[in-house]
Amino acid sequence: MNGIGAPINRTDAWAKVSGAAHYTAEHHIENLAQAVLVTSTIPSGRVLRIDDSAAKEVPGLLLVMTPQNAMRLPKDTRDGKIQPPIGRRLTLLQEDDIYYNNQPIAVVVADTYEHAREAAARLRIEYERKDAVLDFEQAKQDLHPPEKVLTEDTDTRRGDLADGLLASTVRIDATYTTPIENHNPLETHSTIAEWDGDKLTIHESTQYMKGVQRIVASIFGIPPENVTAICPYTGGGFGSKGSIWSHGPLTAMAAKMLGRPVKLSLDRNQMFGPVGQRPNTEQRYRFGALDDGRILASSHDTIAYTSMIEDWIEPCGIVSRMMYESPNQQTTHRLAKMNLGTPTFMRAPGEATGSFALESAIDELAVQLNMDPLALRLKNYTEKDPGKDLPWSSKSLRQCYEIGAERFGWKDRKPQPRSMKQGNKLVGWGMATATYPTNRSAGECSATLHPDGSALFRSATQDLGTGTYTVMTQIAADSICLPVEQVRFELGNSQMPESPVSGGSTTVASVGPAVQAAGHALRLKLAGIALADQASPLFGVTADQIGFEHGELYRLDEPARRESMAAIVARHGAPVEVTAKAEPGDEKKKYSMHAFGAVFVEVTVDEDLGEIRVPRVVGVYGVGKLMNEKTGYSQLMGGIVWGIGLALFEETVIDKRNGRAVNGNLAEYHVPVNADIQGIDVQIVDEDDPHVNPLGAKGIGEIGITGVGAAIANAVYHATGKRVRDLPITLDKLL
Ligand code: MOS
Repeated sequence: MNGIGAPINRTDAWAKVSGAAHYTAEHHIENLAQAVLVTSTIPSGRVLRIDDSAAKEVPGLLLVMTPQNAMRLPKDTRDGKIQPPIGRRLTLLQEDDIYYNNQPIAVVVADTYEHAREAAARLRIEYERKDAVLDFEQAKQDLHPPEKVLTEDTDTRRGDLADGLLASTVRIDATYTTPIENHNPLETHSTIAEWDGDKLTIHESTQYMKGVQRIVASIFGIPPENVTAICPYTGGGFGSKGSIWSHGPLTAMAAKMLGRPVKLSLDRNQMFGPVGQRPNTEQRYRFGALDDGRILASSHDTIAYTSMIEDWIEPCGIVSRMMYESPNQQTTHRLAKMNLGTPTFMRAPGEATGSFALESAIDELAVQLNMDPLALRLKNYTEKDPGKDLPWSSKSLRQCYEIGAERFGWKDRKPQPRSMKQGNKLVGWGMATATYPTNRSAGECSATLHPDGSALFRSATQDLGTGTYTVMTQIAADSICLPVEQVRFELGNSQMPESPVSGGSTTVASVGPAVQAAGHALRLKLAGIALADQASPLFGVTADQIGFEHGELYRLDEPARRESMAAIVARHGAPVEVTAKAEPGDEKKKYSMHAFGAVFVEVTVDEDLGEIRVPRVVGVYGVGKLMNEKTGYSQLMGGIVWGIGLALFEETVIDKRNGRAVNGNLAEYHVPVNADIQGIDVQIVDEDDPHVNPLGAKGIGEIGITGVGAAIANAVYHATGKRVRDLPITLDKLL
């Protein structure tokens, strides 16, 4: 069997390793002009003048598009309504204001990339400078609440926090901080735009085909059907490609002005500002508990930066609303405006950072109580969602804890910090809980059976490198009862049936059921054709008497009477096609739906050098049904690797003088490399969840990073006796 669950290789593996898979910037298009984005070097002010006289001497120069000469757009995009519900105020050269360093202020187009770059370097830009807020401490003097935190309330309250703290015998009050982080997919954001009259074809590296189509159409004031968005391969996204940023429409504007197709790729440094980033957070955590470990009160108050032009909050507090029993609780979110690029979703926005604070604070509480941190978590285990007051659709966290503890050997942990050593290294063992919500949107899929017996399924979804092609092929194959070799799944074109954004770990949950429904509909249609066809051995039976297996239809009462799907279609004379839609019901009203996991970590710390290594991570997850045991384990493992990055390496450092990222490159923006990763043991518990969606699959794109930051911080505390509440935990913080 190679259908759902089977650990088959990626169906696109060969195309990827051989170079046959074309990423956005690799499409060959006739007469393609090359563009370079020019960004501001000041954080606040106005573009007064762009002198392009020296640029004009560069051969092959085609266009210098600036706020002074850029085509006027029919719509004012400054109302922040361009991409509901998140807003996104783009900077499309309709205005000359500057709100952050690295903001797009011009586009230079030439016959070659080198000419465009040379001309861009020769621009002389005069600015009017204004005061900028570049210091978080200063920005915090003026806080405001965001309207919403994702779809939830900004602040929540249950019981009475003050009463709960007063009644407690042990209290924690600690503040945790996390830095700005930037998405660094290997593929930087790229666009190729080509107009044919008022019809636009836009190749865009994206997590959201249909979003590109609709939003770009709305910006140019043309009907969505005039825009075709194409992206068969996305070279990583992690949230940054979930929104449409300025460079895409700017490229289309340049192509329109020139009457010629134009390509633009951001350079690595331009990934630091104009396309979103994880904001820094300051999270104050308070816990009150009784001596037996029962938590009476908890409070999670988050402050994060946002840009001058838009509100976007890192939703740290949401995880606290559901994780542990706590009769008295408050969670709040506040924003501090800074002259930096607008923040956005980054892998497990809120859960990655919020679980660092929550799960570190739980560990601190366990130390105060002199209790095992796992026992404390079990003491406050929730059998239903305490925030929403709904039962879980399924929750296997107890098994995750048990299996994880067993595999890790947690029972051998000596509770005292600095009590475990290995040669001259301190050894620390820490753990944390992982979680991520399970969501779903509507999806659509078409399915066609060809006379040669092969099936083609299509939906306008995305493969970010995550395995969408592969798992959709598996789902399709099972639904139509064909082996995967005879099934092809296509994605990455906005003209295909509707699919939602690949965000919030929802692609399988949203598109998968549509693929499945299309396969079932196609089967029924084939049965209908066969039973009405005198030449078929199935002629005259009713549809409910027909079975399906291995590409054949057969009579349930007489299984020997059968024929292949190929034969039915061949006699039919034309491919058989269906389109199906699948959408969520009211299950969210009845159940709270989350994936859960337990992360156990061993660190070693060199006392003299402060060097931290992570020899072992055990991550055990309850994520419903896994669609592919190979790609699924890889994705969870990748999440853990990023969790190690979050804990130990990643940090965008902003120059407080000019608001520029000083490490805006892959040499100085540190991410884990092979030498940083040692043993990662990922386990899945059997989990049958009939409520989340027809496939029973919970999302796995994001849960892997959650909990890891705290598990490592807790292990570092256990190793050294030093509680580091500020990520990343670099060696200077231990010395
Ligand atoms: Mo994910 S941060 O929802 O792309």
